[in-house]
Amino acid sequence: MGLAEFTAELEAMRSAAATAFASAADVEALEAARVDFLGAKAGRLRAAQKGLGAVAKQDKPLAGKHFNEAKQAIEASFAAAQQRLASNGSAKRTGPAFDPTVPGTPLVLGHLHPITQTIDELTDIMGRLGFAVADGPEIEDEWHNFEALNIPLSHPARDPLENFYLSTAKAADPAGGKLKQAATSEPTLLLRSQTSTVQIRVMEKTPPPVRIIALGRVYRPDTADATHYPMFHQIEGLLIDRHVTMADLKTVLRLFASSYLGSDVRIRFRPSFFPFTEPSVEVDMSWNDGWLEFGGAGMVDPNVLRSVGYDPDEVSGFAFGLGVERLCMRRHAIDDIREFYKNDVRFLEQF
Ligand code: PHE
Repeated sequence: MGLAEFTAELEAMRSAAATAFASAADVEALEAARVDFLGAKAGRLRAAQKGLGAVAKQDKPLAGKHFNEAKQAIEASFAAAQQRLASNGSAKRTGPAFDPTVPGTPLVLGHLHPITQTIDELTDIMGRLGFAVADGPEIEDEWHNFEALNIPLSHPARDPLENFYLSTAKAADPAGGKLKQAATSEPTLLLRSQTSTVQIRVMEKTPPPVRIIALGRVYRPDTADATHYPMFHQIEGLLIDRHVTMADLKTVLRLFASSYLGSDVRIRFRPSFFPFTEPSVEVDMSWNDGWLEFGGAGMVDPNVLRSVGYDPDEVSGFAFGLGVERLCMRRHAIDDIREFYKNDVRFLEQF
């Protein structure tokens, strides 16, 4: 075979390969074209290489050079086609090209429930007045919820219709059958109806002076309406020291109310009765053109001090218990307590 003929054949193969690779629509088509041109056994390039043997001896160096050039060119156009399909493929996987200038999807940040926010703020205000946070269980015994608070067995506040008593495991056990008196030696438990329980728990453990607040849930079988809910939150305050008077109570509650609701809020005290305070008052705050009750307070009853081993001749103190929901409602002009517990994000989002 003459050199010119050999070179022409290579040239034709080179452009045929370039066209075949460039027009391969997918990986399979490209592979078929690769086998056709570059296949190790029966590829066209392999066949041309065999043809090299038929070229005249003096033409061989040049023919070999042309062969290598053609081989490289064909391999290069194959590699280019491979790359083209690979980038097409990845484009197919991810959709349109990434545009870094498009604004991102904003992250929706959650936040604390309005009651939790209120609790945090009240804790902060009372902390600045020197009151530390104390805690107690929501499932209580009758000693802490009633007895130690000077609420005797005969008191109407202990009525089963006024409280969420819990049946003990024994009483609830159907196999236990007849509920004997002996079996009820376990303490009767209930969901606490007031945070005053924490007063007792703290005083039982701590010698005076005491200056604490307790914040948490309380439970009463009230029918839910705009101002009542069977579960709500109270903030309890207790200060025990020598020579504590009603004036201290009024000062603390005034400072507390004006810190949380603003200096234009007015509060007033109405004589009242609680078994665990003497004298007792009901505390109202100004609301629109009237008054809204937000809790009770008073000087700790000597019987309560005695029940925890304090000497009423040595120390005295005041206590108060206020409704957290009421404070929050007053602050944000919310007119229905049930809003807090519907979990409607359109309501909750506003805080
Ligand atoms: N425990 C009372 C209630 O829940 C409130 C209170 C607390 C009153 C402390 C006086 C002193 O109604």
